[in-house]
Amino acid sequence: MTRLGVVLSGRGSNFLAIADQIRQGNLPAEIAVVISNRPDAPGLAAARERGLATVSLPSKGVDREEYDQRLAATLKEHQVEWVILAGYMRILSAGFIREFPQRILNIHPSLLPAFAGLDAQHQAFDYGVKITGCTVHFVDEQLDNGPIVLQAAVAVEDSDTPEALSARILREEHRIYSEALRTLLTKPWRIDNRRVVLGQ
Ligand code: GRF
Repeated sequence: MTRLGVVLSGRGSNFLAIADQIRQGNLPAEIAVVISNRPDAPGLAAARERGLATVSLPSKGVDREEYDQRLAATLKEHQVEWVILAGYMRILSAGFIREFPQRILNIHPSLLPAFAGLDAQHQAFDYGVKITGCTVHFVDEQLDNGPIVLQAAVAVEDSDTPEALSARILREEHRIYSEALRTLLTKPWRIDNRRVVLGQ
């Protein structure tokens, strides 16, 4: 079983969706540890309730390089093979990325490269796009930038509110994060420049 390390800062609904898929036998992986940089993250409490190993690693006041070294060390202590960012609200340093080459994933609530950064659903709503969605991508040193694994489109309705739109995007996030991971864990793939391509 592939050992996943989940890193989060908040609610943790994407983490829970992945945990559910594992529990239902749909994902050949196990969650080795859930780490939060915010001690009060609901996602961390949810992980504890499920009996998973959890680590609270507060980032407040800690220098980024030093923090990322501690984070990488904690993940390695738990023999993590894939790092799953699930609402982790910090950029990772180059040093951290090098520790897990091609093994760090993130989910972002827009069709990248549109609307990177915070509040992507609001950004898309305010811009007036008719289609937005979500993206599972590999993580590099730049914000919301690495090679794309999977995307799902969500139509913006005239009657939408940012909240209603966010909720529909979130449903797709929960679906595609596990699907992307399942593909990467069970099929041959490679990264060709920026393109994630299935097959040898
Ligand atoms: C999601 O919208 C995800 O796309 C973004 O942060 C949010 C995390 O939500 N990266 P949750 O903590 O998984 O519920």
